[in-house]
Amino acid sequence: MAKTKNLPLDGSAVQGKTAICIGANAGLGFAKCEWLVENKIGRLIMGCRSLDKAEKAKAEIENKKTGDTEIKIMKIDLASLDSIKGFGDEWSAQDPSLRKCDLLFCNAGLIVPNADMTTSQDGFEMTYQCNALGHLALIEHLLPALAEADDPRIIITASNGSKLTTIPDPPSDNPRTPLRDVWKYKNYALNAFALYSDSKKLVTILCREIQNSLDNHPNERYRKIFLANYHPGFVKTSISNKEEFKALKVFTVPVNMLVNAMAISAPEGAKTGLFLATCPLEDKPRGSFWNEKTLPQSVGKQAEDAKLRRAYWDRCVKDGRINPDTFPQPPL
Ligand SMILES: NC(=O)c1ccc[n+]([C@@H]2O[C@H](COP(=O)([O-])OP(=O)(O)OC[C@H]3O[C@@H](n4cnc5c(N)ncnc54)[C@H](OP(=O)(O)O)[C@@H]3O)[C@@H](O)[C@H]2O)c1
Repeated sequence: MAKTKNLPLDGSAVQGKTAICIGANAGLGFAKCEWLVENKIGRLIMGCRSLDKAEKAKAEIENKKTGDTEIKIMKIDLASLDSIKGFGDEWSAQDPSLRKCDLLFCNAGLIVPNADMTTSQDGFEMTYQCNALGHLALIEHLLPALAEADDPRIIITASNGSKLTTIPDPPSDNPRTPLRDVWKYKNYALNAFALYSDSKKLVTILCREIQNSLDNHPNERYRKIFLANYHPGFVKTSISNKEEFKALKVFTVPVNMLVNAMAISAPEGAKTGLFLATCPLEDKPRGSFWNEKTLPQSVGKQAEDAKLRRAYWDRCVKDGRINPDTFPQPPL
C-alpha cells in the first residue's frame, strides 16, 4: 500500500455522487469537502453545528468549484440526539430524487479541555456523545439513504490515540458514560486527552459492530454498505485550540509548538479518508481501522474482544436511543 503522500486518489469515482460530511466547516472535514468539490462531486452536504462558520466555509469551497456541484449546509449538533434526529428527518423529507447518499463522512470530533463543557445536552459526557454515540445515531437515521446508493460507504475519522488507552472492562455503569468520566480541577478537564482516546477506541469498536450487523442484515440492500474508520496522521487543525475552551496557556502553547513543528496539513491528512471513499473495494476488509499509511490495523486486544465489543454496543444502543432491530447482531 502507498504512503499517504503518494496515495492515488481517483477523483472520477466521486463525479455525480452525493456526499454528506459532518464537521465540514474546519480542518479535515473542510479539506475533504474542498477535494470533493474540485473533483466534481454532484451534491455536497456540509453538516455543521455553527451556521456562521459553515457559511464562511461554504463560500470558500464554492470558489474551488470546477463543475456544477450543489453545495448545501445542514445544521447538526452531535451533542444533541434531537438535533441528530432533526438532521435525519430533514434528509428524509427531501424530494425522493434527492434522498440517496453515496458517501457519509462521520468526521466531526472534539477534545474538551474545559470541564464546564463536558456535559452534552442529553446529559452524557461530551466526548463520548460527540465522537462516538452521535455518529452511531446519525448512521441509524441515514441507513435508508445509503441503501439507495450502488456503492455506499461510511468513512469515520478515528485516531491512533485509541491504541494508547485501556477502556473500562466491563463498561462503566456511570449513566454519563460507559468510558472514563472527566477529572476536574476548577474548570479544567485534566484527562481531556484520555477521554478523547477512549472515545476513539469506542468509535473503532462501533464501526466493527455496525459492519458485522449490516453484512448479515435481513434487508439485503443494507449488506452492500461499507464502513471504515481511520487515523489521518497528526494534522494541523483547530481541534486542540478553540477559543470557547478558554484553555490554559500551559496547555495551548506547547500543543501549538508541537503542532507547528510536527503536524501535516489538513489536505494531506484528509487523503486516507478520501482514499477509502474512492478506492476499488475488491477484497478490502470491512469495518476495519486503517492507519495514516492506509494499512488496515488492530487498535489492540480490547477491540478484538467480541464480548467487550458487544457490551459497549448494547450500552450505546441504549444511550443513543437506537432501535435494536435496525442493527440485528448475531448471538455471541
Ligand atoms: N487533527 C489531528 O491531528 C487528528 C488526529 C486524529 C484524529 N482526528 C480527528 O479528525 C476529525 C476532524 O478533526 P480536526 O482535526 O479537523 O479538528 P477541527 O478543525 O476542530 O474540526 C472538527 C470539526 O468537528 C466539528 N464538531 C465539533 N463538535 C461538534 C458537534 N457537537 N456537532 C457537530 N460538529 C462538531 C467542528 O465544528 P466547530 O468548528 O463548530 O467546532 C469542526 O467542524 C475529528 O474526529 C478528530 O478527532 C484529528
